[in-house]
Amino acid sequence: MPITWSAESQDFHLHNECISYAIRVLDNGWLGHLYFGTAVRAGRSFAHLAPGEFAGFANRVGDPLALEFPTGGSGDYRIPALAVEQADGSGVLDLRYKSHRIMASKPSIPGLPSAYTEVGGEAETLEILLVDPVADLEVRLLYSIFRDRPLVTRSARVTNVGKSAAIVRCAMSASIDVPDSDWQLITLNGDWARERHVDRRDLRPGHQSVSSLRGASSSQHNPFMALVRPSTTEEAGEAIGLSLAYSGNFAAEVEVEPFGTARARIGINPDGFSWILEPGASFHTPEAILVYSGTGLGDMSQAYHSFFRERVARGSWRDKPRPILLNNWEATYFDFDEARLLEIASSARELGIELFVLDDGWFGQRDDDTTSLGDWTVNRSKLPGGLESLARKVEDLGMRFGIWIEPEMISRASALFEAHADWAVGIPARPRTEHRNQYVLDMSRPEVVDHLFGVLSSVLGSAPISYVKWDMNRNITEPFTASLPAWRQGEFMHRYILGVYDLYDRLTKAFPGILFESCAGGGARFDPGMLAYAPQTWTSDNTDAVDRLKIQYGTTLAYPLSSMGAHVSAVPNHQSGRMTPLSTRAAVAFFGVFGYELDPTILSEKERSSLAEQVAFYKKWRQVIQYGRFHRLLSPFEGDGNETAWMTVGDDRRTALVGFYEVLNRVNIGPRRLRLRGLDPAALYGVSVWPADAEPSVPTVTVGGDVLMAAGLVIEARRTSSLGDSLSRVYVLERVESAGSNGADQA
Ligand code: GLA
Repeated sequence: MPITWSAESQDFHLHNECISYAIRVLDNGWLGHLYFGTAVRAGRSFAHLAPGEFAGFANRVGDPLALEFPTGGSGDYRIPALAVEQADGSGVLDLRYKSHRIMASKPSIPGLPSAYTEVGGEAETLEILLVDPVADLEVRLLYSIFRDRPLVTRSARVTNVGKSAAIVRCAMSASIDVPDSDWQLITLNGDWARERHVDRRDLRPGHQSVSSLRGASSSQHNPFMALVRPSTTEEAGEAIGLSLAYSGNFAAEVEVEPFGTARARIGINPDGFSWILEPGASFHTPEAILVYSGTGLGDMSQAYHSFFRERVARGSWRDKPRPILLNNWEATYFDFDEARLLEIASSARELGIELFVLDDGWFGQRDDDTTSLGDWTVNRSKLPGGLESLARKVEDLGMRFGIWIEPEMISRASALFEAHADWAVGIPARPRTEHRNQYVLDMSRPEVVDHLFGVLSSVLGSAPISYVKWDMNRNITEPFTASLPAWRQGEFMHRYILGVYDLYDRLTKAFPGILFESCAGGGARFDPGMLAYAPQTWTSDNTDAVDRLKIQYGTTLAYPLSSMGAHVSAVPNHQSGRMTPLSTRAAVAFFGVFGYELDPTILSEKERSSLAEQVAFYKKWRQVIQYGRFHRLLSPFEGDGNETAWMTVGDDRRTALVGFYEVLNRVNIGPRRLRLRGLDPAALYGVSVWPADAEPSVPTVTVGGDVLMAAGLVIEARRTSSLGDSLSRVYVLERVESAGSNGADQA
């Protein structure tokens, strides 16, 4: 049984082969945190970790109490997990254990994305009921532990059992007290076109946090953080990951208090948030996913990768090979008609590309970005036969067809705005701020969601559409909804994202065969909440191969390759202006869900044959890439950042691909060794290099898995300067059948 309860010691112990999480009901009924870390045996006592009789915070010296769901106002001055203003205006809470139950399942969270189980016995859930009879509040804390996964999911439900309304001011999904502060904090930060760059810093006394107030999880900060020991590496040391399945305003925060312990919390950003809890009503927090690894960051990431891929992502595309797509955006922008699109699609088809995606500009009067968002009817002057004619012709070419939509937006110049100006988010007495010439629709209003479900259902039902890119190109300003009274405006941002989830839920259920890819001006909503509906996300608008190294490397801290849209685009790159070799653009994009963002009709024959070869290569290795185990080998965030390397290994360890990238050519240097990971030490691998004409040409060699991991792969030095910068190589490792082999290398 993965969850045990000892009535004698009042301890809960959630455990599996990988981790233990221990909680104690303290003498005064508070819920204490004892331990989260490497698995210890069931039945072990944690008694020596529990504090003695509690005499109140004010009297204490020494270590502060480690608590599971702390509240403020009675001496614990650290960041709380829950703050509720009661009818008398006070905010003090005193939550005491009342009861618990253990369920052989994992409940879902109403209206919010959450992890799920698929087979019986896969997870158990502990629900602990805490009550505060003065505040008339019940709080249910939910903890689920999954078989064979080093993680615990957490969420909370707050219920008003009184006769007057209360105001939830802060409701975190998880809070955890760790017994020392000798940790570093890793977060993923950036902006448009440079999302999820890795930052690692020492914990300092006081607060350190990342958060969003933009209405989206944001490209500036990701709803993820990790606490790692200063000595933790990819392969060794402790790492605690905290991730939030939420796509709106979040906060991830750590506080180091004077005695040197640290409290980490993650959840909805309390800034600007409040929620009126009427008598009898409940508030559900989003779900947090807490991973523990005692064996480095790599294992933490792999736990997130497989969990997000297998138990957060849903739908018919979850486990399927994702198609190689070509998107017309950078090929045509808004300037296309049916003939032009078919020319591009048929050229793409000749290269083996499987899916043609029609991006922005197919609807309303949209010839540039000043108009028509909200008017989801086909622009007949561009597409006289509608989406149906185009989609059928694309299908006749032997490809699938997909479209771009941006449901949550409205242009001032649109029929929708003329009919429903009040549906645009804004404060009546103030001007609305325009971004990219557009406003945001008030997704907190059910009638807006109903309208969008209606019009988008008819678009998606009007043609054989296999794929949808769901964009969201601006953040929310002037947050306000005309549908709520003054005292409930603090609910707006959360209600907005609940509306987005509702629409996603209804559309994905109504069109279960469609592959959804989420997007927010690139990767501004790359979070596990989105992955529950759209198993892949457009990683960044920046397709420059050099810039993508950092973006993709950082993204893999938490997210699997199967979720990362990665495309080859033209040079000079449309975002950076940089020239990079075509093979390097592909070698970077291979490590994701591969595709193209260019016009294949204007390429030379040589380039076209390279593209055909890339497509064939990706198809051959797609399973290993999209569903293998990923390892980071060289970080672009360390040293001078000139080299990046990573690899992915098939589940059966029979095959692996290694990507090695060098941004600037270094003159007159020798060969280097790159130690690999995750191979079968007993196996022999044939190692070849892609592309086949890579310089210098490297003969295929056969090397033991143990040798490749212990001594390394040899990265040959370049012999010519004529190739310039940004070279890359992909090493292909294929297991050589060698029954009875003594493990000797064969040249
Ligand atoms: C956003 C997306 C791009 C493209 C444009 C279309 O910027 O991230 O990929 O779809 O919108 O307007």
